Amino acid sequence: MAETDVTVREVGLRDGIQIIGGFMPTPAKIAWVEAEVAAGVSEIEVTSFVPPAVIAQFADAPEVAAAAVRLPGLETAALVPNLKGAERAVAAGVGKINFVMSVSRTHNLNNVRREREESLADFRRIAAMLVALPPERRPMLVGGLSTAFGCSFEGPVPADAVRHYATLLAEAGAQELIIADTVGYGDPAQVRVVFDALRTDLGALPLAAHFHDTRGTGLANVAAALDCGVRRFDASLGGLGGCPFAPGATGNIVMEDLCFMLDSMGLRTGVDLEALLAVRRQVAAALPGEAMYGALARAGLPKRYVSAEQRRAEAGPAV
Ligand code: COA
Ligand code: ZN
Repeated sequence: MAETDVTVREVGLRDGIQIIGGFMPTPAKIAWVEAEVAAGVSEIEVTSFVPPAVIAQFADAPEVAAAAVRLPGLETAALVPNLKGAERAVAAGVGKINFVMSVSRTHNLNNVRREREESLADFRRIAAMLVALPPERRPMLVGGLSTAFGCSFEGPVPADAVRHYATLLAEAGAQELIIADTVGYGDPAQVRVVFDALRTDLGALPLAAHFHDTRGTGLANVAAALDCGVRRFDASLGGLGGCPFAPGATGNIVMEDLCFMLDSMGLRTGVDLEALLAVRRQVAAALPGEAMYGALARAGLPKRYVSAEQRRAEAGPAV
């Protein structure tokens, strides 16, 4: 696989479609995963192991995950809100379990119907369950923190609260943390404060950023997180998405625009931009009536655009 500088992770198949009206047919979901892998995306959150009674879109989670794990070169991740979800994710064979809890109490209560301490207790139970598995069946355990930059129930969320829960998740066995701006409250200055603090607290633990573009600060927040050393970013094709249990939530940062910005900066993502735009057309056709966002799809690549990969190749081997 080609060398990359930044990992871009598609979350449209989870965050993107959890809020839309209709059920996306299972074959269309699988075709989306396959096409994006062919375009060079190496990590996809392919589904969510929540009860179908809570989000009907994910009634086919086992089927979608099973198809994804068969694709060579793909890191298959799935969202889980509790131990039961983790057990289902293990049964499906995913490589990564993205556990979700919120920094703000009210969002955690609305989203997963638990106090934050109860969510942490569940995370510890998941970690214990995973440790008991043979290593070849053991997925990586990721701790996700929603509403880390603000909450549409509570308003501001203090950086110290993010540090508190991030530290507890790390101590409980998280191998990566996802720091999420669920409702698009974050700004670049705040992003620097939070990620610098987490880096100080957590040392080398991998940190990923999950931004929503609700107020137009999404890509600026990416630039700020890059400055803090973050190299893992979530995004959604066409900017679909949002949490159905957070008032005012809208879509993730746009995958195509994220890949273009990083590539323009000389940071290799492994993603072929033209191929990604073709996947966007495929997904748009499979989701009739859903609004898709994004500037690259509207404007196209700049004239005589040379990709980061090509520029690196033309510059010759580093000495
Ligand atoms: N997958 C499938 N079924 C599950 C499940 C899971 N992850 N978790 C619980 N269940 C089942 C239980 O077995 C139980 O079934 P039963 O009634 O047949 O006995 C039922 O669902 C209720 O279980 P309980 O533990 O009481 O769940 P709850 O009603 O308190 O809901 C969550 C808690 C976490 C399952 C629910 O709030 C949820 O799925 N939240 C996620 C929201 C989300 O996805 N938000 C967007 C992403 S940030
Ligand atoms: Zn999100």
